[in-house]
Amino acid sequence: MAFEKEREKLNKKIKDLENPELIEKQRQKGKLTARERINLLLDPGSFVELDPFVETRFNNFGLDKKKFPGDAVITGFGKVNNNQIYVYSQDFSKIGGSLGEMHAKKIVKIINLARKNGCPVTGIIDSGGARIQEGISSLDGYAAIFRAMIKASGVIPQISVIVGPSAGGACYTPGLSDFIFMVQGISQMYITGPEVIKGVTGEKISFEDLGGANVHNSKSGCAHFSFDSEKECFFAVKKILSYLPQNNLEDPPKERSILAEFFEREENYRLQEIVPEKEEKSYDMKELIEEVFDKKSFFEIQSRFALNAIIGFARLGGSVVGIVANQTKFMAGTLDINSSDKIARFVRFCDSFNIPLINLVDTPGYLPGTNQEKKGIIRHGAKVLYAFAEATVPKISLILRKAFGGAYIALASRHLGYDIVIAWPSAQIAVMGPEQAARIIYKKELLKSKDPKKLEKEKIQELKEYFLNPYQAAKLGQVDMIIHPKDTRIVLIKCLESLVNKRESKIARKHGNIPL
Ligand code: HXC
Repeated sequence: MAFEKEREKLNKKIKDLENPELIEKQRQKGKLTARERINLLLDPGSFVELDPFVETRFNNFGLDKKKFPGDAVITGFGKVNNNQIYVYSQDFSKIGGSLGEMHAKKIVKIINLARKNGCPVTGIIDSGGARIQEGISSLDGYAAIFRAMIKASGVIPQISVIVGPSAGGACYTPGLSDFIFMVQGISQMYITGPEVIKGVTGEKISFEDLGGANVHNSKSGCAHFSFDSEKECFFAVKKILSYLPQNNLEDPPKERSILAEFFEREENYRLQEIVPEKEEKSYDMKELIEEVFDKKSFFEIQSRFALNAIIGFARLGGSVVGIVANQTKFMAGTLDINSSDKIARFVRFCDSFNIPLINLVDTPGYLPGTNQEKKGIIRHGAKVLYAFAEATVPKISLILRKAFGGAYIALASRHLGYDIVIAWPSAQIAVMGPEQAARIIYKKELLKSKDPKKLEKEKIQELKEYFLNPYQAAKLGQVDMIIHPKDTRIVLIKCLESLVNKRESKIARKHGNIPL
């Protein structure tokens, strides 16, 4: 009898979970439900739910009338591309997806299971942040989640999909993830909510300005992807997972499509056409990437932030690689504060998850100017040096044209730890551009000269002839090979193969101190 009663109670609770009124509330905001989102992400029929009956223990400030079984978050595991993953999906239609003690416990359980079992975790976030009624228990809940995420960092890939507000404490869950996905018009990520801002400054802010997808993808650089719809967004989450290993002890999945093989050519004369001979002319590095790597395999990350640098995954002969490239179309491909942050974080991700790095270098160096200096280019630029020097994955650098100054050191110097450095005949390796160099080292001669313009021109030419080629570096063994551009793909494939079993041990220490 008691069992029957209990079953009845449970059945009622299960029915409550699918309350049509609450589903409608969610629809009115133009959003999918928490469960629909899980179904979009996972392979059909693979989801196994955990803790559907967990409830808040608080009843104050009207919480007793608002609470539902599951406590505003669905958690469990399932498969994506036939690989195991752990997932949680917050339900805004219940108490605004806000996070209290038990809600947090459910998420912590998922992250810890994912870490212990070596599987990626994806958090689907739609939350008003710390549940006000639960006070300090909500804050402690976030603290426990953050600690679990930090413990899992570099062990398993962690992805956050923001599909609603990600307010207050909720914003640091994505903030601590490896990749953040957002959707135009429904996603928002901010520390301080609209009511608080209005109360403090009287300011009424637009949806987009308060941490919308555009702001975080093109200005703050906090997010990595933005999409027009949830469907496209979840499709992209599946796609990024197809490049990643399950955990830090595995290699990324190898995949060779027959179609790709059919279209790819070993020799490719188009590469020379893409990169103009005249060094001052810019070109689209993405066109070059398309030609060099496996067809249609390039998956760009942060495509709308710090456009002077390109980062992303691609396949080369079927193997996953991380690409770091200068985009000469924007700011001549210089390294500035934002591009340094973008590159350094990506390099550390690739190193954590055994993804070899390939640099495509064409840059006049770190961006000069007092603006950058005042904002801390030294601190930010140092991250790039640190990340590459620290990385023990295979590292290949290909110099296409300019590799000047600090950018040569960061992106191509064998002494920073590159395993193989390749140059095109058009490569130019120098401390700085010949114009600036002539003005510095021939300053006295130019001041004394009757025809300084002519002398300057001569000196620039002299420096150009000496430095603006890869042969000085090759004579010193700093460039391993100078190749014909048409052979780029095949040489990179062979070099990558040669580094497959690379081993490099690290010095025993607690951890280094990267300039943050
Ligand atoms: C408890 C909350 C809640 C919260 C929303 N709700 N946020 N309940 N705690 N943090 C409840 C609302 O009371 C409401 O309940 C339901 O969720 C839907 O919320 P609405 O306001 O009606 O929705 P909407 O108009 O779409 O506005 C969404 C919102 C707003 C902009 C996110 O709810 C909001 O401003 N929430 C607070 C955001 C915030 O400041 N969070 C920071 C918390 S502090 P009913 O029953 O009426 O449907 C924090 C500390 C850590 O997180 C900070 C570290 C950096």
